[in-house]
Amino acid sequence: MSEEEFEPTIIAFCCNWCSYAGADLAGTSRIQYPPNVRNIRVMCSGMVHPNMVIEALTKGADGVIICGCHPGDCHYIEGNLRAEKRAEAIDLMLEDFGLEPERFRLEWVSASEGPRFAEVMKDVVESIRELGPSPYR
Ligand code: FES
Repeated sequence: MSEEEFEPTIIAFCCNWCSYAGADLAGTSRIQYPPNVRNIRVMCSGMVHPNMVIEALTKGADGVIICGCHPGDCHYIEGNLRAEKRAEAIDLMLEDFGLEPERFRLEWVSASEGPRFAEVMKDVVESIRELGPSPYR
């Protein structure tokens, strides 16, 4: 596969209450973002176990992003704080698996931030496109 042809596959775990609603708002507002992103709705960013991120990256995804409510806004009080802790564990696991740290990201996107959701996704797709395919592809 030549680099020009490379289209990354990005898995976006989005919390139901904020980020998924932000993705919805981007859609209903007709704000475009790359079709490379597969949104997976989860109830809270804190529910995404590090193994799910590693599994995605070793089974076909080139990048993974977890999107949750801004700090203080999590509907389960501390779920996004847990996600932050897990992100540290994920960074270490990426190293163990020989994956570049840029392949994983944690971002906060609220329900009213449709444009921000689209911007974050464009940025993720661009950075992974530059990085190239996951070595597990
Ligand atoms: Fe959104 Fe917890 S409900 S991060």
